[in-house]
Amino acid sequence: MTTHAQTNPAKSKVLIVDDDPQNIYILLEILKNDYAIVAAKNGTKALDLAIQTPQPDLIVLDVMMPDMDGYALCQAIKSRPETQDIPIIFISALDRALDKVKAFDVGGIDYITKPFQREEILVRIATHIEIYHLRQRLYHQTIQLTEKNQKLIRINQDLQAQYHQIKTTQLKLIQAEKMASLGELMAGIAHEINNPTGFIKANINPARTYVQKLFGLINFLLQECPSNATHIQDELEAVDLEFIREDLPQLINSMDLGIDRICKVSNSLRTFSRYDQDHKVEFKLHDGIDSTLLILKHRTQGNKDRPAIDIVKNYGNIPEIYCFPGQLNQVFMNLLANAIEALDEANQGKSFDEIKANPNRITIETKMVGDEQVQVGIQDNGCGMKPEVKTRIFDQGFTTKDVSKGTGLGMAIAKQIVTEKHGGTITCKSELGEGTEFIISLPMK
Ligand SMILES: Nc1ncnc2c1ncn2[C@@H]1O[C@H](COP(=O)(O)OP(=O)(O)OP(=O)(O)O)[C@@H](O)[C@H]1O
Ligand SMILES: [Mg+2]
Repeated sequence: MTTHAQTNPAKSKVLIVDDDPQNIYILLEILKNDYAIVAAKNGTKALDLAIQTPQPDLIVLDVMMPDMDGYALCQAIKSRPETQDIPIIFISALDRALDKVKAFDVGGIDYITKPFQREEILVRIATHIEIYHLRQRLYHQTIQLTEKNQKLIRINQDLQAQYHQIKTTQLKLIQAEKMASLGELMAGIAHEINNPTGFIKANINPARTYVQKLFGLINFLLQECPSNATHIQDELEAVDLEFIREDLPQLINSMDLGIDRICKVSNSLRTFSRYDQDHKVEFKLHDGIDSTLLILKHRTQGNKDRPAIDIVKNYGNIPEIYCFPGQLNQVFMNLLANAIEALDEANQGKSFDEIKANPNRITIETKMVGDEQVQVGIQDNGCGMKPEVKTRIFDQGFTTKDVSKGTGLGMAIAKQIVTEKHGGTITCKSELGEGTEFIISLPMK
């Protein structure tokens, strides 16, 4: 039987469990002004009431009950997650034995002995309910704090990811900007060189003809002049006509060769500067590689510390491919620059002669693979990489170089251009101390 003595939702709720109605009555009288009271006369009913909402804020539990005693009921309440936190105070008559240790062992929080002392009961119950409420508040606050904390951690992670993204984008923009302005500069120089070289080139052949004609004229005049005119002979010897006659055509030929070289350089600059193409066009990869090598010439040529880097070109018979030429030039630029830097690193601590005995070498190989793929291999005999470096080279921002030297974007950009922009692949073979080879495969269309 259940006794709903008083249920006021604003008040804390106390569940009284006792098989003796007299006891329930006494407790009800003591508590009814301050608490909402529910009561049960046996364990089964008590368990039912303990899970009803609102749940009791405290249970007052008689030890001696016929079917399930107070200890067993206490254990049952403490074993259920939905009721385990409700504080339980045991009651027992003084003449009945109350095993206090057992009461605490099974989860009781306090005990009261009969006959009841009104004030004592009120104080004990009020104290335990307050502690229970404080614990509940603390528990909810802890949950809220944990949730807020987790939210902050997530926000922080998001911010870090965004920061990283922005930083990378910024670096990529700087790289792209650098390449674009380099391209513009090249195009500007090529343009400026073009006009004057055009004049010279156009004038060389007429100059050659005029020189031939002038020599013809001199020959004619000499035949017509009296050969014993010594002052003429003296003049001829003074200007060394015979030498000029031999040297001048050679001089013009070498000027012709020189101007051809300037034209080639200017063409290479123009090829390299095709940066801002926004659609794919047919392009000779060899032109791209050659123009990039030309741009890097100041870094491959010899200096006081080492002989020139040996550039070996094993160019195969490959067709033009559809691509973004400026972007592929950027890939060649990044790979060749890395190769030069790897050679520089391998040269550390070696003398000029030691390097000369085992020369720095970059080998560039191109070939067809099947009917549809073109392959470019760029190999160096530089420092090579440790396995843990090799697995990270395509990561954005990964570098083993000084902050001032490397941004760690070269390979990430190369990979993006090859795979995303051209549907190709880029792979790397490398052994520490043995050198490195990058292989790029590009579809022809
Ligand atoms: N040919 C190579 N030989 C040895 N290590 C290489 C080679 N190419 C790349 N690496 C390694 O890969 C790393 C990443 O290369 P990546 O080009 O992306 O950046 P970086 O050269 O360090 O800087 P940057 O952004 O200026 O190019 C390098 O720091 C280097 O450790
Ligand atoms: Mg690099």
